[in-house]
Amino acid sequence: MDKKNRDLNYSIYPSDKNIHPKSFTPDYKSSILRSPKKSPLSIKNIISDLSGHIFEKNDLGSLDNDLIKNYCKNSEPIGERIIIFGKVLDENSKPIPNSLIEIWQANSSGRYRHNGDNYNAPLDPSFGGWGRCLTDNNGNYFFKTIKPGAYPWPNGGNNWRPAHIHFSVFGLSFLQRLITQMYFEGDPLISICPIAQSINNKNALESLISKLDLSKSVHMDYRAYKFDIILRGEKSIPFENRK
Ligand SMILES: [Fe+2]
Repeated sequence: MDKKNRDLNYSIYPSDKNIHPKSFTPDYKSSILRSPKKSPLSIKNIISDLSGHIFEKNDLGSLDNDLIKNYCKNSEPIGERIIIFGKVLDENSKPIPNSLIEIWQANSSGRYRHNGDNYNAPLDPSFGGWGRCLTDNNGNYFFKTIKPGAYPWPNGGNNWRPAHIHFSVFGLSFLQRLITQMYFEGDPLISICPIAQSINNKNALESLISKLDLSKSVHMDYRAYKFDIILRGEKSIPFENRK
């Protein structure tokens, strides 16, 4: 079923509290003040929750998923050249087509192109650090970029974020939208990062760690990392309500 003609007679699985990090995780200091002090209210899904933006291929530029080239001036950015690829699926393993994926990241030395970033590491004049793409009919997505560097952050100690890429994934409805971070396998900083460790389910954290996949590498040029993204799935409602 395409997105424009989709049937809105469905509901979404509730969030699994065992997978997502708790909002109050004192080792991650800023969670102390910003975590809610009262239990959340449960409300019924309405149409505006179950619908969402419709994105078309023409909404995006041809270099939007190529962070090597989309901000490049005279020379390409410095750093390890990598491909990030995978599928967007729902909890029933159904591929999600036409889902907008947006990413943002630090450059190879760990510095963001953002006014609020005061880290001493230099900006790279050829690297913007953001990109976007739409999944194809089988839920596949693909980016070319530079591997981000680790960076220090103020958390009361000698804290360093592991190399990571921020992801926003729209899915088919607002309730499926996910904002998360992707890490790289083998990074020793993952096990000591209070943000990564706020996820206290081992499998859930593992699902955020991309895996090196040399079969998708480009010979003498790019290494590839695979990262599949699973969004909240649809729950069917009784058949008599379906067309
Ligand atoms: Fe970050």
